[in-house]
This record gives sequence, structure tokens and C-alpha cells, in this order.
Amino acid sequence: MDTLDAIRSRRAVRGYDSQYVLSDSDRQELLELALLAPTAFNLQHVRLVDIQDPQLRAQIRAVAWDQAQVSEASMLVVICARVDSWQCNASRVWEGAPEDVAQFMVGAIDGYYRDKPQVQRDEALRSCGLVAQTLMLAARGKDLDSVPMDGFDFEAVGRLINLPENHLIGLMVAIGKRNVEHKPRVGRLPFDEVVRRDRF
Ligand SMILES: Cc1cc2nc3c(=O)[nH]c(=O)nc-3n(C[C@H](O)[C@H](O)[C@H](O)COP(=O)(O)O)c2cc1C
Repeated sequence: MDTLDAIRSRRAVRGYDSQYVLSDSDRQELLELALLAPTAFNLQHVRLVDIQDPQLRAQIRAVAWDQAQVSEASMLVVICARVDSWQCNASRVWEGAPEDVAQFMVGAIDGYYRDKPQVQRDEALRSCGLVAQTLMLAARGKDLDSVPMDGFDFEAVGRLINLPENHLIGLMVAIGKRNVEHKPRVGRLPFDEVVRRDRF
């Protein structure tokens, strides 16, 4: 599918064919494509948790407003991020770059994040958003649909997936074959209200 068609045809879909099985290779490819999203300083903050265990899906659904897609979509991905990536992975992610570039980047990373917890957290969340959108567009590329979700108890889901220290959950994305028609897009704000030239 053409990129522009993928963007135009992506909708938040809540009704899925629960019998539709995504092949392991499709599942793997979707996750790999999602991880090609850009990340600040190449820090690759995101960690993806592919929830396959039906029992765990049911437990997550119970703390996610009983949203059907949590257990009925073929794939459910909890998009997490390491908030301390700047500290633990700065050198690793510049390995292989010319020595002077690597040294510069490691210093720049330290200066950008050290003692700035909000920046560390903002950056992790930005990365989650970009990975989520990349994942959803990749799904369209395979003629699948998706829905992003933050309608759940973050702490409860964190406990269920054993979220480690220094990690956060950004959002979840469900992916599968839809069995519902798209509803018309509603309430779109006027273009001129949301796009400004040069300044607000
Ligand atoms: C961060 C975020 C969280 C969302 N959480 C939910 C959710 O928990 N459940 C749901 O059904 N839709 C959720 N949505 C989907 C939005 O409701 C949907 O994107 C919006 O209504 C626009 O519809 P469209 O994506 O089809 O254009 C979420 C979207 C975003 C970006």
C-alpha cells in the first residue's frame, strides 16, 4: 500500500475478527518496522511487549475498561520505554560510528538529559508515540487495522507485564483484521484553527 493511502485509511478500529491469526513472520516484521521509527540521539528508548498469552490478554482487558479489542485483536503490543536510556545505552547506540562522532554524541546526551527528569520522561513518551504510529501504518501496509489505547490502568498493566524499574508505559496498540465498517470521521477541527503560518 502506498504511504499516503496508509495514512488516509488508518482509523481507530475497535471490532476485530478474533479467529484471524497473524503469522509469526508478519508479527515479527511489524515489530521490526515499528522499531525503525526515529529516536532522539538514536537512543532507541522503546521496549515492545507483544502480549500473546490469552490469559494475560484477559487480565489486561479487565483493567482496560473491558475494551474488546484487547483480547479480540490478533496482536496486542504494550509500548514501553526505558526512561534511563540516556544513561545506560548512550555509548552502545553510537558504537561503530567514527570515534570523534561517538564521543561528541555521548557528551551531548549527558548534557541534554542529566538532572532533567522531565526531559527524560518526555523523550521516552515522544519515542513511544512515534513507534506507535509507525506500527499502525505498518499494519495498514499489511491491510490490517489498529487502535492506539491509553484507556487502561497504567499501574495495573505495569504489574501484569512486570514492568522493570526506570521504564514507563506509553500506550498500547491492538492490531488485527477488522470485522466492522469504519464510522465517518467526526468533529474534525477546521484546518485553519490547527495550522498556523509562522506563529500563533
Ligand atoms: C493516545 C491515544 C489514546 C487512545 N486511547 C483509546 C482507547 O483507549 N480506546 C479507544 O477505543 N480508542 C482510543 N484512541 C483512539 C481515538 O479515540 C481515535 O484515534 C480518535 O477518536 C480519532 O479517530 P481515528 O483515529 O479513527 O481518526 C486513542 C488515541 C490516542 C492517540
